[in-house]
Amino acid sequence: METADYDIVIVGSGLAGMRAALQAANFSNRKLRIAMISKLHAMRSHSVSAEGGISGVLSPGEGGDSIELHAMDTIKGSDYLADQDAVEFLVNEAPKEIRLLDNMGVPWNRREDGGIVLRAFGGMSIPRTVFAGDKTGFFMLSTLYDALLEYQDVEIFHEYLVISLNITRGTFGGILAMNISTGEMKLFRGKAGIIATGGYARIYGFTTTAFSSTGDGIAMAYRAGVSLKDMEFVQFHPTALVPSGILITEAARGEGGYLLNSEGKRFMENYAKSKMELAPRDIVSRAIVTELDQGRGVVQETTGIEHVFLDLRHLGESVIDERLPMIKEITIKMNGIDPSKEMIPVRPAAHFTMGGIHMDIHGRALMNDYDPVMGLWVAGEAGCVSVHGANRLGSNSLSQCVIWGRVVGEAAAEHALGNGYGVTNEEIERWGALEASRVNNLMDGTGTENPYLIRKEMQQTLDKYVYVYRETDGFKNAKKAINDLKRRYANVYVQDKSREYNTNLRDTLELGNMLELADIVIECALARKESRGAHAMKEYPKRDDVNWLKHTIVRMGSDGPVLSYVPVTITKWQPMERKY
Ligand code: FUM
Repeated sequence: METADYDIVIVGSGLAGMRAALQAANFSNRKLRIAMISKLHAMRSHSVSAEGGISGVLSPGEGGDSIELHAMDTIKGSDYLADQDAVEFLVNEAPKEIRLLDNMGVPWNRREDGGIVLRAFGGMSIPRTVFAGDKTGFFMLSTLYDALLEYQDVEIFHEYLVISLNITRGTFGGILAMNISTGEMKLFRGKAGIIATGGYARIYGFTTTAFSSTGDGIAMAYRAGVSLKDMEFVQFHPTALVPSGILITEAARGEGGYLLNSEGKRFMENYAKSKMELAPRDIVSRAIVTELDQGRGVVQETTGIEHVFLDLRHLGESVIDERLPMIKEITIKMNGIDPSKEMIPVRPAAHFTMGGIHMDIHGRALMNDYDPVMGLWVAGEAGCVSVHGANRLGSNSLSQCVIWGRVVGEAAAEHALGNGYGVTNEEIERWGALEASRVNNLMDGTGTENPYLIRKEMQQTLDKYVYVYRETDGFKNAKKAINDLKRRYANVYVQDKSREYNTNLRDTLELGNMLELADIVIECALARKESRGAHAMKEYPKRDDVNWLKHTIVRMGSDGPVLSYVPVTITKWQPMERKY
């Protein structure tokens, strides 16, 4: 097995990973050797599918907006679980990142006078989302990628699946990854490491996320002893296309789209009178599911799936063509629906995971409740910093990705400039051989269980029991089902025995990660006996600040997940009832 030494090893090539690579290279004056590893071609990272935009107050004072108001909206949207120091950092830094990307060439939508156009997003008091049509992620990512191609010191490893993370004596050592095109293992030893592998919403079947959102980086960090935070908080985006689950951007409602039930009524009037369709996602998703539960949904003839309608017809063809061209393309191609003429069938789908690797405001990965792992940082959806708390506001994630990408890129570079390797070559090679044997055993195994059936059952379990509304009994059923699937996974069979492009092996390894995370999500959700943001418990319909204004921390114990709790950082916004 080859061992390669780098100064910085970045796992993940979405907006957070690429922004980190760029910052590390610039900060070090290109003196460092940086590896950026992606299990896909880097340009297919899930950030590429971000549609609606990135939030930030570009001109405080204009139109009544302010940095303070952005912070307040975010904290209220988070149902007061966000760490307020982190939110303040987010809202202060977001405009700088948007301007930097503007200078780098991201084609933000502009007015006639050249000013950047802003659009409305859910839970934001005022339009403050900057966008590039409805392909914002694509334009941001391709701009960063084009820039990185100029950097000889940043080596991009496309199609390398990470297998394991080495932490020795509390210090980052390196990464073991498999070259998907050849099946060969490679060790990346690093002075600093950054995990930016995205979220875990693919544990669900009905999801807006890419097939790649399997939480690999989070699972490998957990197995290496790093703590995870707030894993029970999974965001359901209200408007996923039925039946595919493809995202119909919130911008469609930001541009004026309505949600209608089977009676043709704008039902949001009953749930969030002042914000209507632009209430935060947790509230809109609950409203839709309530409408369905109370018999005001529509059953799709071809699939039998219940949904409500998103109506864009009144926006007219020119607004749709200018602001939402991809939505039109998607609905025509997938459902044969022209949104200027027909309504779009939608229902909530798993979209974003607020939980992730426990990290501090500086992006350091944490063990136990607060112990930083030397030399290891986290950025993007893989980490929980926590700026989104129990419910993220749309368009805040792209800001989070690039801001903490920059922060950790710089911190990792500073560390790599001043420190040597945390582990010896001999140590990492010994460890790598052991970890690689886990994969070899899987390949050589004589198990009988089909990984695709296990994956399907896992996703059905989460879709059914850990959806928008949750119940203790449902969690218990889910826990039992996932435990059973984990047992079956121990006897899984990789049918394809070839080395090159063995997607059967890749899928099986990803499944192992997802089962681990599904179990953790259920465990953390079962423990939280209140309703807060995206975690809506039928038996505990109210938020309980006396007992539950705290983050869930989970780490790997010998008998499974071990939970503890740490306080939420409150700076100036005292929790109060959320009204919209
Ligand atoms: O609806 C959307 O365009 C999604 C945006 C986001 O999740 O931030």
